[in-house]
Amino acid sequence: MAAAGPTEVVVVGSCMTDLVSLTTRLPKAGETIHGHKFFIGFGGKGANQCIQAARLGAKTLMICKVGKDSFGNDYIENFKRNGISTEFVGQTEDAATGTASIIVNSEVKTLFNPAPAHAELDPQFYTHADIFCCNESEAEILTGIPVGSPEDAGKVGLVLLERGCKRVIVTLGAEGCVMISVDEPIPKHVPAGKVRAVDTTGAGDSFVGALAFFMAYYPNLSMEEVIRRSNFIASVSVQASGTQSSYPFRKDLPQDLF
Ligand SMILES: Nc1ncnc2c1ncn2[C@@H]1O[C@H](COP(=O)(O)OP(=O)(O)OP(=O)(O)O)[C@@H](O)[C@H]1O
Ligand SMILES: *[C@@H]1O[C@H](CO)[C@@H](O)[C@H](O)[C@H]1NC(C)=O
Ligand SMILES: *[C@@H]1O[C@H](CO)[C@@H](O)[C@H](O)[C@H]1NC(C)=O
Repeated sequence: MAAAGPTEVVVVGSCMTDLVSLTTRLPKAGETIHGHKFFIGFGGKGANQCIQAARLGAKTLMICKVGKDSFGNDYIENFKRNGISTEFVGQTEDAATGTASIIVNSEVKTLFNPAPAHAELDPQFYTHADIFCCNESEAEILTGIPVGSPEDAGKVGLVLLERGCKRVIVTLGAEGCVMISVDEPIPKHVPAGKVRAVDTTGAGDSFVGALAFFMAYYPNLSMEEVIRRSNFIASVSVQASGTQSSYPFRKDLPQDLF
């Protein structure tokens, strides 16, 4: 499935196994109850982003560490099934923790997604990333500005430019995103299409994965167009349930996106 040629999207980030039990109610402390369904899902912000980029056709490589156990083995299989290089997926006895993810393409463009966000983020993350992409709650943690509208997101963008970001994208769920850059320091709202949202879990990672794909494979597209297409892909992902299970494949998307 993956494209030929050199790796174009490299993701450094977390990969987590989701263990999901469906029950009628939550157990009390120490209580055992019957569930009616159980499933294991593949998650983790870095891995989700890598899977979305791979499903769009990017040649991808994941850098992460999993445990030396069956979940770790299964995750490596999941990467392989999605055509992702696992050359740099390590296995260890220790638990892996993902606190941030950085995506690098062959032009050494870096896309930083501060998830989960900490108010005391190392200031180098602002200055080193080519694109700093956060959601509403991450934006508030980092800047103290509550984000409820494109106008608020624009204010966040200006603050992050002052901290040394070159380009900022704030995702706004159904409202799409706001972008701003040093070259064009006027916030620009790029709305998402109206869709019937079923499950928005993982929409942010679908968006970041699509962003990495378009930046790597369509370097001549304007940032606004890259965001418009990434909004579209993330908005497809909210129309089905689950995280990676809702991420669309290139073959199922309108071909004028590519
Ligand atoms: N209801 C929706 N309708 C259309 N597009 C949506 C909707 N929700 C999310 N999106 C798309 O997904 C992108 C990311 O959504 P959002 O800002 O909610 O990310 P997030 O909060 O990081 O998501 P999550 O934490 O659930 O993965 C949006 O910029 C938009 O393109
Ligand atoms: C933003 O992303 C964080 C992960 O860093 C997540 O916990 C939070 O729910 C997201 N916020 C919104 C508004 O979706
Ligand atoms: C991008 O634009 C440059 C300069 O106009 C051109 O040489 C190059 O072939 C273009 N690349 C792609 C992938 O279209």
